[in-house]
Amino acid sequence: MPYPVEEAARRRTFAIISHPDAGKTTLTEKFLLYAGAVGEAGAVKARSGRRAATSDWMEMERKRGISITSTALSFEYRGLQFNLLDTPGHRDFSEDTYRVLAAVDSVVMVLDVAKGIEPQTLKLFEVCRTRGLPVITFLNKYDRPGREPLELLDEIEHQIGLRPTPATWPVGIAGDFRGVIDRRDGSFTRFTRTVRGSAIAPEELVDAAVVAVEEGSAWSSAVDECGLLDAVGGDVDRATFLAAESTPVFVGSALTNFGVRHVLDALVDIAPAPSERLDVDGVPRPLGSGCSAFVFKVQANMDRSHRDRIAFVRVCSGTFERGMVLTCGRTGRPFATKYASQVFGAERTTVDEAYPGDVVGLVNAADLQIGDSLYVGDPVEFPPIPRFAPEVFASARPIDTGKWKQFRRGLEQLDSEGVVQVLRDPLQGDANPVLAAVGQLQFEVFADRLDVEFNAPTEVSASPYESIRFTDEPTADRLREIGGIRILRRSDGRLVALFESRYRLQRLENDEPDLVLEPITVS
Ligand code: G4P
Repeated sequence: MPYPVEEAARRRTFAIISHPDAGKTTLTEKFLLYAGAVGEAGAVKARSGRRAATSDWMEMERKRGISITSTALSFEYRGLQFNLLDTPGHRDFSEDTYRVLAAVDSVVMVLDVAKGIEPQTLKLFEVCRTRGLPVITFLNKYDRPGREPLELLDEIEHQIGLRPTPATWPVGIAGDFRGVIDRRDGSFTRFTRTVRGSAIAPEELVDAAVVAVEEGSAWSSAVDECGLLDAVGGDVDRATFLAAESTPVFVGSALTNFGVRHVLDALVDIAPAPSERLDVDGVPRPLGSGCSAFVFKVQANMDRSHRDRIAFVRVCSGTFERGMVLTCGRTGRPFATKYASQVFGAERTTVDEAYPGDVVGLVNAADLQIGDSLYVGDPVEFPPIPRFAPEVFASARPIDTGKWKQFRRGLEQLDSEGVVQVLRDPLQGDANPVLAAVGQLQFEVFADRLDVEFNAPTEVSASPYESIRFTDEPTADRLREIGGIRILRRSDGRLVALFESRYRLQRLENDEPDLVLEPITVS
């Protein structure tokens, strides 16, 4: 068996998604604790203040205590290499998060038992479903009073459309958590708290007859509920999990470490390893073939002292060796990988070798763009990373007109990084651009970076537009005759029409069906 194939088999590349405050950071830290990557939970946070475990390099992130950027964290557990891709943890959607989902093989969804699925993040979960990403669910904070787990299962089924299959089931009510029954083998694990979960929670496998006596009614209710789940056929099923139809559910508390090990074990035992990635024509790229990768994120100026542009790639096949020359499919140009690193937060470690499923940050990637395919040997073009229909729009102008040059440079850079989509008037060029995004936060990041990195303080103000459609020149000519519509061009050359009124758009679609008004959908 060629080496990359073996290495791929021992990798798990995944992301944790959750609503802010549901416990993603805590769970990440506990994964590190259980993997032995940190001696004590909190150590990662403590090193440089709050949240060092997350990528908090941006000033704005530090100010707000949120993580906007996405990088990768690797650790070993049970002989496997885990690559945990960081997704931005904020209340808003951003395209960045969606791009990360294009680079992972599975997802751990963290829900707060007291809150369940919160509307803002529902969309993220739906994306997993539509992209066919297997999802493991962790019902967190069971150490505190919360909702009935059965009720939460119902919510998962009805709101996300994933059939929940509980792998573990809690003994004790939320707030008085004793342990879990593993429904797969009927065993009971009792947990003991450690102070703020700084060390691995002592676990004890207890015989059912003994628990029945010791835990009394908590045990009998849990057994009754398990009976109910058995009756509705809610057993973990790997085939439907891999097909993104069902989701194994684990109950626990990241803070006290209860149930953390069960989730890690599930990632080992049932989560998929990197498999052959399909190219644009649906042809699989064999894992053992020449090295190939695609860019899922581009980030400039990550480190003030470096002033560079890093392209984050996910390796899809072969062995990546630092120094190798890859070809960029889009430009046909060679890219020398002299500087390759793994970046997490402000730290960089040089990567000499990487395998399918790994994430590598390619430094000096001035020519690379999101979605680019790189390869050695047989050429390959991977499908483009989905772009999402923008839902919010804004206009931008430099506050100091003397900073016009800096503003233009920033506009181009942040557009190519995908921080926002810049829509330009074909006649006006960079003057009066409209910014389009999935969430408002993208505009804030845009303004912040123009100010800090490009020295071009920018005023971003609300735009009156409500809807966007792809269009063509003949339709654009017709639309120009109507008020409340603007015709602009994306950086990829496609023409779009922006509508101030959703209602007017609907009427046009009904009244003039020959017009080209193509919705921008997730591709
Ligand atoms: P996030 O990354 O998803 O935004 O959430 P994060 O892990 O930062 O957790 C948000 C808050 O919830 C934190 O409290 C954290 O300690 C708490 N938390 C996480 N998991 C659990 C759990 O299983 N049980 C309980 N009771 N709390 C949990 P904080 O007060 O905001 O921060 P900190 O001072 O504890 O760091």
